[in-house]
Amino acid sequence: MASSPQKPPKEGFSHRTIERNVTLLGLLSLVAVSIGGIVEIAPLFWVDSTIEKVEGMRPYTPLELAGRNIYMREGCYLCHSQMIRPFKDEVERYGHYSLAAESMYDHPFQWGSKRTGPDLARVGGKYSDAWHVNHLKNPREAVPESIMPPYAFLAEKPLTAGDLRTHLEALRIVGVPYTDADIAKANDDLKLQATADADSADLQARFPKSQVRDYDGNPAVVTEMDALVAYLQMLGTLVDFKAAQAQEQAK
Ligand code: HEC
Repeated sequence: MASSPQKPPKEGFSHRTIERNVTLLGLLSLVAVSIGGIVEIAPLFWVDSTIEKVEGMRPYTPLELAGRNIYMREGCYLCHSQMIRPFKDEVERYGHYSLAAESMYDHPFQWGSKRTGPDLARVGGKYSDAWHVNHLKNPREAVPESIMPPYAFLAEKPLTAGDLRTHLEALRIVGVPYTDADIAKANDDLKLQATADADSADLQARFPKSQVRDYDGNPAVVTEMDALVAYLQMLGTLVDFKAAQAQEQAK
């Protein structure tokens, strides 16, 4: 007698069943994806912040904020990033890699991956104010091979930043911890920080490490150049990485 052809194996609740039933496949995929999603997302509802606190971080002063607005208005971010990645070449060139906390008061942040010019996250203190003013007026004078456009007009334009109090208030709504005093004094702080020999004790108590001086070499008027250079000179200067490293090693 001819043997009967082999029967296919008995079908249980196997992959075969699942893969031949679109509805069942869809449903079970959804369950699998949801489990992954919940595991990733749920913990975020129970932690206060995903940003590790770092000593030294403070909100921008009104003058730095005005400078930051000019930085954005002029599109400096199109050629410059403010995010040092944790790679050896970047850390050797720019300094300690950027921490999340260092941009926690940035609205919007100035990270980026396109660098026509160098990263500016730690440019503060690298050059003198005069170097910045010269470089911004005519980049080729400071760096002959530079392709950066000139911004000489900033030194001619008086700073008209509008009412900084409303700006600080708006930032407070999105979580930047400005105090009532910071907001009330915002417009005065703006002028004071760009004035040489000003009585700055109160400003520096509220904004530690804020640098008070005439930035653009023209004490007669607070210009957009003052604000932009004040911003550049504070970038990356708030967190003291040397002290943090010493603390780490002492542990
Ligand atoms: C078209 C691209 C481009 C734009 C836009 C641009 N830059 Fe640059 N920037 C460069 C290049 C390239 C360099 C490197 C050569 C040099 O130093 O000029 C540079 C260098 C710099 C440096 C020196 C950094 C260092 O560590 O040596 C600063 C500061 C700077 N730019 C600030 C600005 C600011 C502020 C703006 C906006 C007002 C701006 N740049 C707009 C391309 C640009």
